[in-house]
Amino acid sequence: MRTKIVAGNWKMNLTRDESLQLVADIGGEIQNHDLNGNRVMVFPPFINVGYVMDSGNRNQQIEVGAQNLHQAESGAYTGEVAASMLTNIGVNSVILGHSERREYFHEDDDLLKEKVDAALKNGLEVVFCFGEKLFERQAGNHFAIVEQQLKKALFHLSEKDWEKIILAYEPVWAIGTGMTATPEQAQEMHAFIRKTLTKGYSEKLAESISILYGGSVKPNNAEEIFGKTDVDGGLIGGASLKAADFAAIIKALS
Ligand code: 13P
Repeated sequence: MRTKIVAGNWKMNLTRDESLQLVADIGGEIQNHDLNGNRVMVFPPFINVGYVMDSGNRNQQIEVGAQNLHQAESGAYTGEVAASMLTNIGVNSVILGHSERREYFHEDDDLLKEKVDAALKNGLEVVFCFGEKLFERQAGNHFAIVEQQLKKALFHLSEKDWEKIILAYEPVWAIGTGMTATPEQAQEMHAFIRKTLTKGYSEKLAESISILYGGSVKPNNAEEIFGKTDVDGGLIGGASLKAADFAAIIKALS
């Protein structure tokens, strides 16, 4: 059985105090909810990761990760954060390849491959994001784009390495736009991703990987999207910043 996951990507939102309040509120909302083996994760900006992780008010079922890392072990890279700095404060997971990093910070597949390697070398689990842009879907290239993104950044990994990979399919046109992929579109792509993994590795590996959907998941559409066979949960942006909404999305996981 694949693990189901709801993860909140807080992006560049919330002060320390707001972050502590939010994680406490989410904990309160889900304290009587049986997660049943499902995972809940939040990803605050670097500066608040440690505070949220160490908060006495954090429901321990809520895992805390980081949104990025630098590929080097250490060195003269002003403003950057290395993998070892994350693991040293107890971080286990990192998001890599988010479309906003690709778009605004020019992260390409080659760089992401290096970042993935740095994360795995340090024992971090990677939530790897990818997905097509609107014009690529409109041109009918979405499957090819997704296949290329996966192959270039991840297909050098060993089967063992994949135990530390969570995939997050986030069509760029659905992020922050309120325009969600239909459950059928999500299912179609997730099935394609699994087929790609089967071809590159094995059916066993393909069946073992959690594939999250991201892009305008809200309380009113989560259940339908999560109900699809190949969708193992969601990576949530806007709705993860409101405790009640995020909790409702968590509860939509079966
Ligand atoms: P929204 O849920 O705000 O569309 O963001 C999705 C996302 O980018 C999660 O990483």
